[in-house]
Amino acid sequence: MGVQISPSILAADFTDLAGEVARIAPTADWVHVDVMDNHFVPNLTLGLPVVERLVAVSALPLDIHLMIEDPDRWGPGYAEAGARSVTFHGEACAAPVRLARTLRGLGVRAGLAVKPATPVDPYADLLGELDMLLLMTVEPGFGGQSFLDVVLPKIRRARELIKDRDLDLWLQVDGGVAADTIERCADAGADVFVAGSAVYGAADPAAAITGLRAQAAAAMAAAWWSQH
Ligand code: DX5
Ligand code: ZN
Repeated sequence: MGVQISPSILAADFTDLAGEVARIAPTADWVHVDVMDNHFVPNLTLGLPVVERLVAVSALPLDIHLMIEDPDRWGPGYAEAGARSVTFHGEACAAPVRLARTLRGLGVRAGLAVKPATPVDPYADLLGELDMLLLMTVEPGFGGQSFLDVVLPKIRRARELIKDRDLDLWLQVDGGVAADTIERCADAGADVFVAGSAVYGAADPAAAITGLRAQAAAAMAAAWWSQH
């Protein structure tokens, strides 16, 4: 898999989500949906009823990012609703292996997310149970925050773990990913890029995605980790 771009609708117009997904559909790989419960994070966005409608109207597969307490209980419902990827936070999950296996059993990709201060090494032995690892490059909860470059060594570390174990695991970054930061993410080891403001803040979101993809692809081609 090469570069994938997953624009976040957190930065879109919530009164016209169908129209906002249609604007990115020509060039995006996924639509990233930030589910927040006002408990795991200090913000509230949308939940299952909206996701069910998005599945019905979206030409793109849904990449669900659960920023909620008790994903063990609520996560499978998003898979049953028709999402194609469901990512839960390690900090909130009681039984990550069990949840990942449940999600995969429901036919979706299983993702594990960690906040900027959460290390990945404790999860090293679980990575084979996952389809994606999401490294947050801002504190989860809000769009439009500044990229935390202190996460770059962790991206590199995660890519080392993936390479060492020869895993088929996507490495996603989320938060402050834009034209001035995406190359550093790709260079460190990321291959799936979430971008909210950088896409929906642009006059032409589909063109912004094309630009981000080109930058990431060039950085990836030159990166240490993509060499054989
Ligand atoms: C933040 C969300 C992100 C957010 C990214 O908690 O998980 O997906 O939408 O927005 P930008 O790209 O604006 O940082
Ligand atoms: Zn997100």
